Amino acid sequence: MKTDILIIGSGLAGCAAALAAAKQGAEVTLLTRSPHPEESSTFWAQGGIIYQGVDDSPQKLVADIVAAGAGLSSPEAASLVSREGPRLVKDILIDELGVPFDESSKDSTRWDLTAEAAHSLPRILHQKDRTGSAIQRAFIEKMASYPRVKLLCGATAVDLLTISHHSVEPLDVYKPPTCIGAYVLDQASGEIFPILAKETILATGGLGRVFLHTTNPAGTRGDGIAMAYRAGARCINMQYVQFHPTTFFHPSGRFLISEAMRGEGARLVDGKGREFMNDYHPDGSLAPRDVVARGIHQMMLESGEPCAHLDISHKPADQVRERFPGIYAHCLKCGIDMTKESIPVVPAAHYSCGGVAVDEWGRSNLHRLRAVGEVACSGLHGANRLASTSLLECLVWGTRAGEQTAAFIARGEEYYFPQIAPWRYEREPVDPALIAQDWLSIQQTMWNYVGLVRSEKRLNRAHEILRELHLEILRFYEKAEVTDAMVGLRNGIQTALAILLAAMECRQSLGCHYRID
Ligand code: FAD
Ligand code: SIN
Repeated sequence: MKTDILIIGSGLAGCAAALAAAKQGAEVTLLTRSPHPEESSTFWAQGGIIYQGVDDSPQKLVADIVAAGAGLSSPEAASLVSREGPRLVKDILIDELGVPFDESSKDSTRWDLTAEAAHSLPRILHQKDRTGSAIQRAFIEKMASYPRVKLLCGATAVDLLTISHHSVEPLDVYKPPTCIGAYVLDQASGEIFPILAKETILATGGLGRVFLHTTNPAGTRGDGIAMAYRAGARCINMQYVQFHPTTFFHPSGRFLISEAMRGEGARLVDGKGREFMNDYHPDGSLAPRDVVARGIHQMMLESGEPCAHLDISHKPADQVRERFPGIYAHCLKCGIDMTKESIPVVPAAHYSCGGVAVDEWGRSNLHRLRAVGEVACSGLHGANRLASTSLLECLVWGTRAGEQTAAFIARGEEYYFPQIAPWRYEREPVDPALIAQDWLSIQQTMWNYVGLVRSEKRLNRAHEILRELHLEILRFYEKAEVTDAMVGLRNGIQTALAILLAAMECRQSLGCHYRID
């Protein structure tokens, strides 16, 4: 199969790239491993997307991004998103797609702009606490009106194709490292086939599931990071994994309790009702995320309490239910009525600030390979991401990558497609018990030794465990029938190791990489 542009991942970053390319007439193949195109982290985004506040300016947004990022954010990336982001939100999300963001009853602004931690003013657009699903649905609907966008669901990218790794022509090894598409598994038939592409855009999202506790949905296994790494693309800042301070502490699993709740006045307290965050930062509960997550961790250590509490019960119950219907319904189902009592909360892995190193057009160091969204590292987030910048980054980098790849193709660039080696099938059936146990080992090791608080001893212990497990999984993979689960396990261990090795090398605490030694 051949296509102009292969986009791997149908979250906001992939959809933004697909729409931008399709508008220029390019032929796009958009892949997702999920059975439904909406299934993604994007779908679950609650708090919102940055737009512009009253008396806001690109300079103010840059200052907030850089401060939250602990000074490590790329000034160029921060400036690009601050200049381009609000314009694209207006042109694409509001005017073109008609995303129904909540409007305000005040005269001073059309929109109900909310605040979140480390923002100097309210500038975040939202659709109640279901912003992501509103955006995702609008994109998927719009895409259906472009016949040259072919959407493949239940299709897992297994490996990126490069000229030097996969051409059957031996002399191609001397050609510059170039990506030419991907091997793709059709989950229904078990067939693995190459999709050759003039341009390939990775938009596979994050890696939260390599940790035991996470806000991320199933499938966030770092597939894109692992594929890019194997193909020879540079991955940077992998040690900066952001932990969200407030996820629902409940045996049914972690569920995000949006930072927007604190933006709307919820108080973070300990078991005695004390606002302990005031001990750690002048902004208290609205300090940057890494500071709040560690503050909760420290309070739990010192007090022996199993969680912190988020209290919004002082606000009118109708207002709370209206503003946060998703969180209210989820908590109520689990026996907590947040209009009357506080919500037990703990931190959990949330967002990868690092990823495939890219420039302002999403280009990686591998020719014809781009990465956009959470899988990429544009440098925007530095050592810790400012709330609600991720969706904006997906929109800006996705759109730019889609536009530029389509423009290159339209101006008739030369693209070399070698003959590709056919896939070599192995047939040993995969034992699900082995996969489940290997995942548990990865997740527990990452959570306990490479989590919110790190030390040389913990990292060394993790290294011993994960290095051994990596070899074991590779041996297992070489003989196994390739399934989506097997692909995920191989990628999960590789991504976990990438985070670990970056954390071992980085001896200085900065942002969300925190070492107690
Ligand atoms: P995703 O939306 O995760 O999409 C990834 C896509 O890649 C999916 O289609 C997936 O199926 C596909 N994929 C993965 N691997 C493969 C493979 N091997 N083959 C084929 N397809 C593959 N950010 C904000 O800015 N504001 C918020 O309010 C906010 N709230 C959040 C709430 C939650 C609960 C979570 C988890 C995140 C939140 N974030 C928020 C972060 C933000 O949602 C994500 O960073 C962003 O949506 C990532 O978008 P993406 O397009 O890069 O990836
Ligand atoms: C949230 O709603 O707290 C998540 C926002 C984000 O991750 O940007």
